Amino acid sequence: MKTEVISLLLDEQEREYGLNRAKELLCQGELVAFPTETVYGLGANGLNGPAVSEIYRVKGRPTDNPSILHVGRPEDAFPLWREVPETVLKLMDTFWPGPLTIICKHSDLVPKEVTGGLDTVAVRMPSDENARDMLLRAGVPVAAPSANLSGKPSPTTCRHVVEDLDGRVPLILDGGPCRYGVESTVISMVDEPKILRPGIVSPEMIAAVIGSSSISDSILRPLGEGEVAASPGMKYKHYAPKAEVIVISGDPTAAGAEICRQYDLLTQTGKKCAIAATEQTKSFYHGKNYAILGDREKPETMCSSLFRVLRDLDCEADVILAEGIPPKEVGLAFMNRLLRAAGFHVINV
Ligand code: TXA
Ligand code: MG
Repeated sequence: MKTEVISLLLDEQEREYGLNRAKELLCQGELVAFPTETVYGLGANGLNGPAVSEIYRVKGRPTDNPSILHVGRPEDAFPLWREVPETVLKLMDTFWPGPLTIICKHSDLVPKEVTGGLDTVAVRMPSDENARDMLLRAGVPVAAPSANLSGKPSPTTCRHVVEDLDGRVPLILDGGPCRYGVESTVISMVDEPKILRPGIVSPEMIAAVIGSSSISDSILRPLGEGEVAASPGMKYKHYAPKAEVIVISGDPTAAGAEICRQYDLLTQTGKKCAIAATEQTKSFYHGKNYAILGDREKPETMCSSLFRVLRDLDCEADVILAEGIPPKEVGLAFMNRLLRAAGFHVINV
């Protein structure tokens, strides 16, 4: 299949063409990769079961891992849900459009291909202008997981999408680098509010609107043998580059020293190493191969570059040594992704 890549950034006419082509393809039951403020999505008409199945085939995604439905207006979420508690309206009012995905019981409109057979559906309204424009034109909810091959780091630039999906989808829309770089916060509102996946909308921000919510306890640890995942996505290997990733957590100075020690040891055994560093510690790594993730004090900067840095270092290293940060507020979203990329291989110093 020939893949058309259309930029939404350069020229108004090309943007119009790209968005209208996306609408046409979605209405015909075909796939479109598109930018959002979190990561790029691989979309299909979310009311068309066979079209949604095609997403799973192309990504190589297990069919029991449900997809998020994306809407262009808050009111377009209501027909997808069977009931909408008051607290959900508050969350929508505060965080939509934006990186918060809300799970409620689904209505009869939603095909089983979207929900993976669950009685719930996840819905979100993105804040990215291009994504919303595409959704409004399409006029249907768009089912979209991240636009990567299953198991690879999520795509945060058009180049990442092209790396994974060129020749597999008819259209990729280029909206430039994604603003946040980690996927949306996922909250289940079916019983008591429960955060299933942390993101830029932090537990503290949610608590300020609806009172406290619980956090799924598998956010920072692997699932045990036979344990049922609250969110099916959690049971699969995630975000993993080909290189081995080791997380070194603790006081920045001690972590920097340990990373240098590991780097030298591994290099002596013939491994090619790279370091995912921070602004605060970069001076430790003089003469070594490193890339800067961001500022430890501003975890959102580390989130926005995490998947890009993992993909970049993966091209040049056998082992990536990455600094951990405290899993607090937005740091929780960062550590949730980094620990999965590392298969939970952590050295605490
Ligand atoms: O930011 C995002 O959320 C991006 C962009 C494209 O919108 N999308 C995204 O989708 O990250 P995906 O499919 O890669 O992740 C969705 C997560 C998965 O872990 C899935 O298991 C979970 O949400 N999920 C979806 N529907 C669910 C449901 N009904 N119950 C529990 N978990 C659900
Ligand atoms: Mg994903």
